Amino acid sequence: MSAEIESVLHENRVFDPPAAFATQANVRGMDAYRAMVAKAEADYEGYWGDLAREHLDWIKPFTRVLNWDHPPFARWFEDGLLNVAANCLDRHLTTWRKNKAAIVWEGEPGDTRTLTYQELHWETCRFANALKGLGVQTGDRVVIYMPMVPEAAIAMLACARIGATHSVVFGGFSAEALKDRILDAGARVVVTADGGWRRGAVVPLKDFVDEALTHCPDVRHAVVLKRTGHPVSMTDGRDLWWHDVVAGAPSRCEAVAVSPEHPLFILYTSGSTGKPKGVVHSSGGYLLGGIVTMQWVFDLKDTDTFWCTADIGWVTGHTYVVYGALAAGATSVMYEGAPTTPHAGRFWELVEKHKVTTFYTAPTAIRALNKLGDEWPAKYDLSSLRLLGTVGEPINPEAWMWYHKVIGGGTCPIVDTWWQTETGSHLISPLPGATPIKPGSATLAVPGIFADVVNDQGKSLGPDQGGYLVITKPWPSMIRTVHGDPERYKQNYWGHFGGRYYFAGDGARKDKDGYFWIMGRVDDVINVAGHRLGTMEIESALVSHGKVAEAAVVGFPDDIKGEGIFAFVILHRGVTGDDALVKVLRDHVAHEIGAIARPDRIRFTEGLPKTRSGKIMRRLLRDIAAGRDTQGDISTLEDQKTLESLRED
Ligand code: WTA
Repeated sequence: MSAEIESVLHENRVFDPPAAFATQANVRGMDAYRAMVAKAEADYEGYWGDLAREHLDWIKPFTRVLNWDHPPFARWFEDGLLNVAANCLDRHLTTWRKNKAAIVWEGEPGDTRTLTYQELHWETCRFANALKGLGVQTGDRVVIYMPMVPEAAIAMLACARIGATHSVVFGGFSAEALKDRILDAGARVVVTADGGWRRGAVVPLKDFVDEALTHCPDVRHAVVLKRTGHPVSMTDGRDLWWHDVVAGAPSRCEAVAVSPEHPLFILYTSGSTGKPKGVVHSSGGYLLGGIVTMQWVFDLKDTDTFWCTADIGWVTGHTYVVYGALAAGATSVMYEGAPTTPHAGRFWELVEKHKVTTFYTAPTAIRALNKLGDEWPAKYDLSSLRLLGTVGEPINPEAWMWYHKVIGGGTCPIVDTWWQTETGSHLISPLPGATPIKPGSATLAVPGIFADVVNDQGKSLGPDQGGYLVITKPWPSMIRTVHGDPERYKQNYWGHFGGRYYFAGDGARKDKDGYFWIMGRVDDVINVAGHRLGTMEIESALVSHGKVAEAAVVGFPDDIKGEGIFAFVILHRGVTGDDALVKVLRDHVAHEIGAIARPDRIRFTEGLPKTRSGKIMRRLLRDIAAGRDTQGDISTLEDQKTLESLRED
């Protein structure tokens, strides 16, 4: 790590929480926010201990809140006992929520299902018994490789119920990626489907499983859900249909009491950098983070219909489609397919149809939908929406404004939530009834989380000085270890500042009001003539030009400046990219940020290479910008064609 990062983005708009929102919010006003922060500062363990008693059902209460005797290996609430599935399901069955919709599901072809908490409990117990019948025991690992169907959530909850640790592998991953994860996790059972619908076609999940399992001798069974009716081959003795294993399985299944430190799941981080890591999450602390952020950040009410568009293959789907959402008693919307199938208004159609109140998606989706034109959202009644959210990357202020005006009708607060697979739940985010919002800033730490921006010596930096984003105290929903490699956990996340801080690779600055502005991964920083510039800020400047829909900026070797700036630009529909526009855009960036940030080269493109979770694979763009062959693993790339067309140009 080297010198500080220069921050050049200046955004001055501030949006106070609308009065009507603030008066009904779970956290009302900045004084309430500050009081929570003050309580956590005064008595950190007492603060989290109280929340854990208030929000979780314990089979055996804990007496010790935090064991930090062997940092960075934290143990939270360690002498208690609980069960995560019981906290997501059983707790609601003794209340009126028993018959509340837990999951409202929509398939891509338009088929729908609604499961109440009671029904979800029933299905979970049956599948848990089926897993037991296949020999799955507490502590075993189960890989789940499924489309976005209710059975994916049921499989996760069934594992949690019997204390098996699941590893969900995103249904868009290749057989190769699946094989690596099955082997690394040491799974004996894989749960899959005969396919799932995506962009009008069947994703042949079972074929990929068959291919992967030729290299996984320890897998005893594959359980296959019939979703599409697409023909699949079934290996005798190994492969079993879901409907057969649950037929006759009892609908009661004891929720096994586990330690709150019991590993609920392993999730491999997306491959935008390096070899995937098996992030291990706990049961108690993880669930607590999910529940409190549902309350504080998403301001959950029982009248809400909550839609997090993330796939359950990502941490966002784990926490905000399944665990946090259900434990908090939400109605969680689940959608199987692509945002633009069968038409570009599908998301907005679903908002209208299910009267969604809270909509949570990624900036990349927002920009893509923006590009398709305002006529699509205009066709639908979006007035049920009261809160919008974003996650996954910094949202550039222009996309923010579109989301705010066109989707939110100018009245919905937007929570820009910063967190990671490793953090388990939101760490930096506005609380929508309290925090004045600045577009493009994730604003302030969630109460009980202590974050800072430091230089490479670990010294806290002053306003607007760019540096490394760190978390200075352990928190309940934090990663516990890297599966099978505790040393990697220690070095990778706690090794940078002598073990004092958690650092997972993002650059940031705090402004004079203490607001965090995330500048992207520090490995995305470009060093131009000794100035370290965050790529996100240059991208944001490009997108602020009316003709630009999306941009990705990388560095390339330059003899004189160290690195030059290379911008890949997607234009709005109907705009032609020519030399004149290149000049206009270069000048525009220079005008917005300063001459130092003027891109040396601009290439117009139709698409950008992205991981299936929507992150731009800058590593590949860097290779293209440098005129190198692309190197390394591209198994997580969503669309090979984009890469090929960029190479050909
Ligand atoms: C980035 C997704 C800016 C960041 C939950 C982080 C963000 C990485 C934001 C984690 C945000 C996530 N603003 N950047 N609101 N949210 N990021 O593990 O670089 O898929 O380190 O978890 O996404 O990605 P992951």
